[in-house]
Amino acid sequence: MKVLVVGSGGREHAICWKLKQSPKVTELYCAPGNGGIAQVAQCVSVKATDVEGMVAWAKGNAMDLVVVAPDDPLALGMVDELEAAGIPAFGPRQNAAVIEASKAFSKELMKKYGIPTARYETFTDLAAAQDYIRAQGAPIVVKADGLALGKGVVVAQTVEEALEAVQSMMVDKKFGASGATVVIEECMTGPEVTVLAFCDGKTVVPMVSSQDHKRAYDGNKGPNTGGMGAISPSPHYTPELARRCMEEIFQPTVAAMAAEGRPFQGVLYFGLMLTPDGPKVVEYNARFGDPECQTVLSLLESDLLEIMLACREGRLDTADIRWRSDAACCLVLASGGYPGSYKKGCPISGLEDVAGAVVFHAGTALADGQVVTNGGRVLGVTAVAPTLDGAIDAAYAGAKPIHFENMMFRRDIGRI
Ligand code: AMP
Ligand code: GLY
Repeated sequence: MKVLVVGSGGREHAICWKLKQSPKVTELYCAPGNGGIAQVAQCVSVKATDVEGMVAWAKGNAMDLVVVAPDDPLALGMVDELEAAGIPAFGPRQNAAVIEASKAFSKELMKKYGIPTARYETFTDLAAAQDYIRAQGAPIVVKADGLALGKGVVVAQTVEEALEAVQSMMVDKKFGASGATVVIEECMTGPEVTVLAFCDGKTVVPMVSSQDHKRAYDGNKGPNTGGMGAISPSPHYTPELARRCMEEIFQPTVAAMAAEGRPFQGVLYFGLMLTPDGPKVVEYNARFGDPECQTVLSLLESDLLEIMLACREGRLDTADIRWRSDAACCLVLASGGYPGSYKKGCPISGLEDVAGAVVFHAGTALADGQVVTNGGRVLGVTAVAPTLDGAIDAAYAGAKPIHFENMMFRRDIGRI
């Protein structure tokens, strides 16, 4: 089969790496891809958000399956357009991708179907939002409604901080149109766990759990990022919690989407907080999380292509989905300054000396045959071992030879 993966990050590199292992995949393409993906797939220079261009390329080159991995093209309806053009696509349609694209939608869905989440109110009026914050007090959480690269959330410790956040979202338009509506919610506490799940519209099959490290600096300090590292499985996620989440969160969510006429096909991301009152949803994403995808797919034993086809064809209930009983760790090597501004084009050395880990490229490019930095998150060094400690040690050891100017990484991935 000819398969095209849409996207250009560590997630897409991990998806390509895993798909490449399928005996059924004869040709693998990635649009636009990056410097590392180019080693496993043929990169195609169509932007991930160019729906028309992607459909034309996929049709012109007779793709048998297109995997739409990032949030933006999903929210733009790329899956709908591909399917309309007769090209099988993996990922939710636009009306289901809204579970990530609009926090107001997802909060409303959870309220309507009794799915546990933080109490909240939605606002389009600045004064009303300010009054609510003053009445509720701090800590309190302010979220831009739309997509904001994982950065549109402020966990405010003081009322002043929360007021500044609504000001910057609603008035200064820090996240553009994404901030015209804000969701203000109760601040929850407890460990965070990510559970990705395959869905075919009616059946939901959770993958091994994982834990992201969203803050930029050690000790969970500094600004929120797309994710600075991940481990799988999460030591907090017991079999008892898994059973409870399946019953109270995963199945009800997939059933709710189907009942709303928005059947969800693809990967549904459950961002959970294990609060003293039980597991609650922090957020949904309509796709694999990154870097979680890198650890989770490293533990998948079965053929990813077969699972994706089963999702698309509504036969996930009989799919073969097996996991290694090992642990995995992904350490993100980022550009100094990320998630703020950073330099691009710095040569990366030592990649050929990495041992005991797989290096997924997140933000790299090839310049005259040399791999150079081309994003905030640059590489994801991912290792698998029988124990979590072993996986963490192997990821850090694997990263040792790698160097580029202003390289930044956390020293406590999996230790916090
Ligand atoms: P989100 O983009 O919604 O996942 O939010 C980013 C991060 O903000 C989450 O991973 C949490 O660490 C934190 N967060 C979001 N909502 C809440 C909440 N209601 N209470 C506490 N922390 C939250
Ligand atoms: N790692 C979080 C995300 O992909 O949104």
